[in-house]
Amino acid sequence: MLDKTARIAVLVSGGGTNLQAILDAQQSGIIKSGRVSLVISNNKDAYALTRAKNAGVECAVIEKTADFERNIVDCLERHGIDLIVLAGFMCILSKDFTARYSERIINVHPSLIPAFCGRGFYGLHVHEAALARGVKLTGATVHFVNEIPDGGRIIAQKAVEIKEGDTPEILQKRVMEQAEWIILPQAVEKVSKELTEAKQ
Ligand code: GAR
Repeated sequence: MLDKTARIAVLVSGGGTNLQAILDAQQSGIIKSGRVSLVISNNKDAYALTRAKNAGVECAVIEKTADFERNIVDCLERHGIDLIVLAGFMCILSKDFTARYSERIINVHPSLIPAFCGRGFYGLHVHEAALARGVKLTGATVHFVNEIPDGGRIIAQKAVEIKEGDTPEILQKRVMEQAEWIILPQAVEKVSKELTEAKQ
């Protein structure tokens, strides 16, 4: 049940630097309309789980079986989740799942959508593609999640310059530092606030 603050679940698969940015923003008061109540990983070895444990947040590992989405829904319902944040979650969610949580799932993507997005564009591949195309500007996007991969309504974007000699790894780090870790927490606050206000 939505009270004064939204209950947030963050879904992760890997390192969890974006999860960390959200936890830090909660600590510093940038996020005040929501609270991370649950972290779900499809990967039991994800370092993101350690970050969640260090912050005292409850974790669940849900592996990709035939009942994957059903198990995620059960877990979200048990925890009374209002907002789902995909933060480096490397799984595509079905139409049924995204429709069930319409405008209540957000994702961070490491490019300026509609460039370098959709199926196959995830993690370092996105930066490899941007460098291969020779674009001079890239960035990050936070958007609502619907049944089209990276196709939902855009909430926030921030541009980042590409520099001579960039490798995919160097560019990934710059996009995270200058864009993702800033706009994701801001978007989490914005959507949490809207959700809590809508319920009052
Ligand atoms: C981030 O760059 C995120 O934008 C990207 O994976 C990285 C995860 O890093 N996500 C996607 O490509 C999803 N399409 P993190 O685990 O350190 O947050």
